[in-house]
Amino acid sequence: MSLQRNRLDRFLSARLGISRRAVKPLLAAGRVRVDEQTARDCELPVTAFSTIVLDEDVLQQRRPRYFMLHKPAGLLSATRDPLQPTVLSLFSAGDGKGLHLAGRLDKHSTGLLLLSDDSRWTRTSSTPGAGVEKSYLVGVRDPITPEYVQAFAAGMYFPFEDIHTQPAGLEILEPRLARLTLREGRYHQIKRMFGRFRNPVLSLHRERIGALSLDPELAPGHYRALTDEEVQKAVQCAAVGACPEPSATGAGA
Ligand code: URA
Repeated sequence: MSLQRNRLDRFLSARLGISRRAVKPLLAAGRVRVDEQTARDCELPVTAFSTIVLDEDVLQQRRPRYFMLHKPAGLLSATRDPLQPTVLSLFSAGDGKGLHLAGRLDKHSTGLLLLSDDSRWTRTSSTPGAGVEKSYLVGVRDPITPEYVQAFAAGMYFPFEDIHTQPAGLEILEPRLARLTLREGRYHQIKRMFGRFRNPVLSLHRERIGALSLDPELAPGHYRALTDEEVQKAVQCAAVGACPEPSATGAGA
């Protein structure tokens, strides 16, 4: 899914209150620039995120772009990679330009990823120390016992980093499926935590980051722009270290 697009001539005609025929000479004379490039094509697609200038008049100022993506399995959470396809390959050229990731998922994990070209926002909303709750559905090979719930709530020592993980909430949904809520994101943390029980993770799907849940309308590989309210929620959540709507099963802090 892409952003709502308009043709440049339609945009100019509506914005300037002139006919599309009258727009043509403006374009032909090179008086219109879109995202700092001279635009001569009537059909050039523009969105709310395009900067459009006529001579020295800014007709529309480009807004920062914020997206949620339903990451499918098999793509890297990176903006570029010399060998493997990244999640940016799912974006149209215009939408994907200049995006950064707010947090990552492993190549075979699926679910909610946030991206923006506003690097302050991506940094703030994904700061590891901010304590934002993230919730995952985790499918594993062997049955999950109540012992796991205690071990996850108590936290685990990771000798490689010399850290103790923060309390994590584990809700057993089915013998081999659980909802896990974390307030941090150490390297391969979930796989390593289940690894303590020699129970390999077979599927990992992020449902929620703070107050933002993956839109159930988004099929794997699809994305949509965040609403203004969602953009604010993501940052507020990081700023206060908690979320407006904490889950009942969330990690106790
Ligand atoms: N922990 C993992 O092990 N993998 C992920 O993708 C996210 C958290």
